[in-house]
Amino acid sequence: MNTTQRHGAGELPHGRPMQTDFDTGLDYPRLGSVTFRRGTLTDNQEALFEEHWPRLGRTLADETIDIPAWFGREGHPTILEIGSGTGTSTAAMAPLEAETNIVAVELYKPGLAKLLGSVVRGEIENIRMVRGDGVEVLARMFGEESLDGVRIFFPDPWPKARHHKRRIIQSGTLNLIATRLKPGGVLHVATDHADYAEWIDELVEVEPQLEYMGWPWEEAPLLTDRQVITKFEGKGLEKDHVIREYLWRKKG
Ligand SMILES: C[S@@+](CC[C@H](N)C(=O)[O-])C[C@H]1O[C@@H](n2cnc3c(N)ncnc32)[C@H](O)[C@@H]1O
Repeated sequence: MNTTQRHGAGELPHGRPMQTDFDTGLDYPRLGSVTFRRGTLTDNQEALFEEHWPRLGRTLADETIDIPAWFGREGHPTILEIGSGTGTSTAAMAPLEAETNIVAVELYKPGLAKLLGSVVRGEIENIRMVRGDGVEVLARMFGEESLDGVRIFFPDPWPKARHHKRRIIQSGTLNLIATRLKPGGVLHVATDHADYAEWIDELVEVEPQLEYMGWPWEEAPLLTDRQVITKFEGKGLEKDHVIREYLWRKKG
């Protein structure tokens, strides 16, 4: 590994990943070595990262993001998407919600590079990116009641029983999301994995601050149409998987 790679833009710090000790008694995903997943960027993507990441991206850090300063505008709603992958739906939705600040959180650098490319080429003004574990980004970089929406589209299903503890949808994550949402804010989750859907079905009422709204919810105060069939969703459809969508509203 060369030094440029190690210290390049958007690199996560070495050593143990940040992992908050929540004292709620609830369940949180345990990522283990997933955090270290590496990916190689093409030379073009590296150049794009070096040029644009400092303005449009951040890595997980112990500091609250000043959202208006980062987006250069005051008083706009903010939605956080966890696990944006290659950002296919992120980039397709953002222009339709131009008045909303979109923050895409992803661990996988090549995915972020792809989204960064779409943002730069498409001159999309309302997307910013954070590289890091979505749970830690929520806990450390966003204040309580700072978000109007949280999206988790097609989270990794972790199908094996011994890996279920890695699933991002857990009682603790739902609680953390609820604390970060403003009253009336919305959580939107989609999965094409039948077993994960069953898992979520059991958790829809677990967080008292979230009112489960089901699907569809016509009056939802944010865009719920994902616009495109993402890579993962496409694969699901080929296998005749059913897509399940979930919406919750922060009470109050
Ligand atoms: C199955 S993919 C779906 C990507 C995208 N939402 C889509 O629909 O195409 C799940 C993504 O979540 C990311 N991911 C998994 N756990 C995460 C976490 N704790 N924080 C941020 N991203 C995470 C993975 O790197 C992966 O890109």
